[in-house]
Amino acid sequence: MLNIAVLVSGGGTNLQAIIDRIREGSLPDVKITCVISNNHGAGALERAERAGIPSRVVSARDFADRELFHRALADALDEVAPDLVVLAGFLATIPPEVIRAFSGRIINIHPSLIPSFCGKGYYGLHVHEGVLKRGVRVTGATVHFVDEGVDTGPILLQKAVEVQQDDTPEILQKRVMEQAEWIILPKAIGLIAQGRVQIRDGRALILGNGE
Ligand code: GRF
Repeated sequence: MLNIAVLVSGGGTNLQAIIDRIREGSLPDVKITCVISNNHGAGALERAERAGIPSRVVSARDFADRELFHRALADALDEVAPDLVVLAGFLATIPPEVIRAFSGRIINIHPSLIPSFCGKGYYGLHVHEGVLKRGVRVTGATVHFVDEGVDTGPILLQKAVEVQQDDTPEILQKRVMEQAEWIILPKAIGLIAQGRVQIRDGRALILGNGE
């Protein structure tokens, strides 16, 4: 059984996709042991509650400084002790001590085809605003392992999505979620649960036939 902790900040549609795949039986050897939010008001917390998944909030607002917030986040993950940490729309930075403690065991879903439209300032709608401003014809989503950089770790899965001429950032975000994020994040978790992923020379390799 792969025990995962899912870290969230917002509506939790990516969390919901994982919950739904597990419920449908297409992720038989995966269990969400805890949902951790850095935002007390995150809709993702209601989704966790409806699914009967334990959750906790570790919000910077509740700590005197970032150091104490980072320590609390590290302590929470130490306590939950997941096999894999999944960042699903999580907007706070992961402290270096957590990245070291969970080296090679943290994945993130980013709503673009990395290395395009990623890095500092590219999160949420800003990603899609950048895509529309540049006028690219294809965008998509990426699941990557998290290292100490911003969106710089080994890429595991990507899925392309067409950009339509009259897209707004909101319309494009929804299409990228529906046609890419909600598909490749559960898929990536399944590959890891099956032991089919290896990181070699900074690249994530998928063992066995195809994805
Ligand atoms: C969205 O911008 C999504 O593209 C990105 O995180 C944000 C919130 O997603 N991955 P969610 O609905 O909370 O999963």
